Amino acid sequence: MTKPKIAVIIGSTRPTRFADKPAAWFMEIAGQRDDLDVELVDLRDYELPFFHEVASNAWVPSQDPKAVAWQQKIAEFDGYIFIVAEYNHSVTGALKNALDQAYVEWIHKPMGAVGYGGVGAARAIEHLRGIGVELQMVPVRNAVHIGGGDFFAVSPLGQNGEMSTISAHLEPSAKGLLDDIAWWANATKAARSA
Ligand SMILES: Cc1cc2nc3c(=O)[nH]c(=O)nc-3n(C[C@H](O)[C@H](O)[C@H](O)COP(=O)(O)O)c2cc1C
Repeated sequence: MTKPKIAVIIGSTRPTRFADKPAAWFMEIAGQRDDLDVELVDLRDYELPFFHEVASNAWVPSQDPKAVAWQQKIAEFDGYIFIVAEYNHSVTGALKNALDQAYVEWIHKPMGAVGYGGVGAARAIEHLRGIGVELQMVPVRNAVHIGGGDFFAVSPLGQNGEMSTISAHLEPSAKGLLDDIAWWANATKAARSA
């Protein structure tokens, strides 16, 4: 079987977002894996409207061409890793909207997260896992939490340092996340095609 295709989805879209920094750091690590084919997917490129379909595409095909283009992109992948900003203890509105704009395409595939913020987006990631269950995804155990002193060391809200200053002790959790995603992506891919 071919290598699983994994999307790393940037969940913040605001012009001055911090998200690009952890996303680039994580892509560098993920790109070294020879068991996964990893692609960065930026919500900004899809310009999704707020959900305005008659129903989820679990029930009725979507009409808006931008929603359909998003669904076609999501359908390409066997698993997903979200780059998660925490906005008022949950995921961004942009990410929730993007999750709602597909359904069929998410089913029976693993999802994981790289979060950042005061507590490494732990609260947002727990919400994300719950959303994933409703979308019939497989939320994995391991996640990367860039929190506390690490977050302020690299965020413009703090010292705005390089990711390399905090990378070494985050790499084991990045490996754990990628191992989980690889295992579940292979298992669910085989099960979906059986
Ligand atoms: C609307 C809003 C709500 C926020 N709420 C939280 C929060 O609940 N917890 C937290 O740790 N940081 C919170 N922050 C700070 C973010 O962690 C910080 O701004 C981060 O850079 C946001 O990610 P982004 O720059 O990629 O959008 C919030 C920021 C915004 C803009």
